[in-house]
Amino acid sequence: MNWQQLKKILAFYGRFTLSFTQVGYLARRVFWSKFVPDFRGQRWLVTGGSGGLGRQMVLEALRGGATVVAAARSEGKLAELRAEVEASGLTGLATECCDFTSTADTERLIERLVARGQRFDALMNNVGVLNDDLIVTSEGREASFVSNLLSHYQLTEALVAKQLIGNGSVVVNVTSGGGYNVPLMTGTMNVTDPKRYNGTVAYGFHKRAQMVLNQHWRDTYGARGIDFFVMHPGWADTAGVQRSLPRFRKILKSILRDAESGADTAIWLAAKRPPQPEEESVWFDRAVRTAHVYPHTRATRETPQSLVAWLEAELARGPR
Ligand SMILES: NC(=O)c1ccc[n+]([C@@H]2O[C@H](COP(=O)([O-])OP(=O)(O)OC[C@H]3O[C@@H](n4cnc5c(N)ncnc54)[C@H](OP(=O)(O)O)[C@@H]3O)[C@@H](O)[C@H]2O)c1
Repeated sequence: MNWQQLKKILAFYGRFTLSFTQVGYLARRVFWSKFVPDFRGQRWLVTGGSGGLGRQMVLEALRGGATVVAAARSEGKLAELRAEVEASGLTGLATECCDFTSTADTERLIERLVARGQRFDALMNNVGVLNDDLIVTSEGREASFVSNLLSHYQLTEALVAKQLIGNGSVVVNVTSGGGYNVPLMTGTMNVTDPKRYNGTVAYGFHKRAQMVLNQHWRDTYGARGIDFFVMHPGWADTAGVQRSLPRFRKILKSILRDAESGADTAIWLAAKRPPQPEEESVWFDRAVRTAHVYPHTRATRETPQSLVAWLEAELARGPR
């Protein structure tokens, strides 16, 4: 690591550590009024719903009276979730096994949902991973790109097209503060060359692209009465963080958020659906924040349209 990189890292952590950890959450919570979400009569779809923040969203939605479809990869973890929900006396959970690194598997999930014909009031595009080591899927794509971005696009577009999301629905996209470091650049995503792959950098680019995609969806589908929000959870101690960022977790463990404070803003947005500014922005701790902390991330030749065209081409291309 050279001096410039070290300076950047120190500046990032100096700026965000208090805010993104439980410290920031507890400090801000003092000023929030009491809020008991009421999701009765609603149907939710939560991707990555068997663990971490997604599991928390599933439980909060069930507690609020919604029926929920939790979609995740491991049937074993989904079975554990079903057992936990049953044991706690909650009802209304259905689960769907889907590997979101596979566009074919996501397509099969979409087909099952369409066959059932049940509309969703809330879609939580939560699934996301940071893979330190390069994983190339059987379809020839970089795995985290597919789970973090392409699957969100594929699923959301299909549900809108099939009118399973429509007037009155809300979509919450879960991004990360890591997206603050980089501009939108399609050329840096779906990197399958081991010499060029850097998991943390790739993750940042996916998370930036999610922010841009959210704005595109607002502009494209807002008139249909669908609300789109993009939020980041701060830093929460989940299995994902334990697996992908062990050193980060070791240092900050005592002050990391729990799943409840990490998922809080997503739940709050789904319940309140607050007005938001026209320009691109990100929600964090129940407030709207800038999408660009650093000026350099505004500097890109790419546009929401070029991102969408690139994602469309990627889906049209099919497996390599
Ligand atoms: N935790 C944080 O501090 C933090 C910070 C910023 C942003 N985020 C974002 O928040 C979201 C949730 O993160 P998390 O920390 O809760 O993650 P996590 O602890 O790793 O949980 C991920 C969930 O997603 C599922 N999942 C992972 N890969 C999948 C795949 N290919 N197909 C289907 N399901 C899959 C997992 O189920 P299986 O085990 O069955 O795969 C699990 O249910 C992500 O988008 C992440 O980028 C988290």
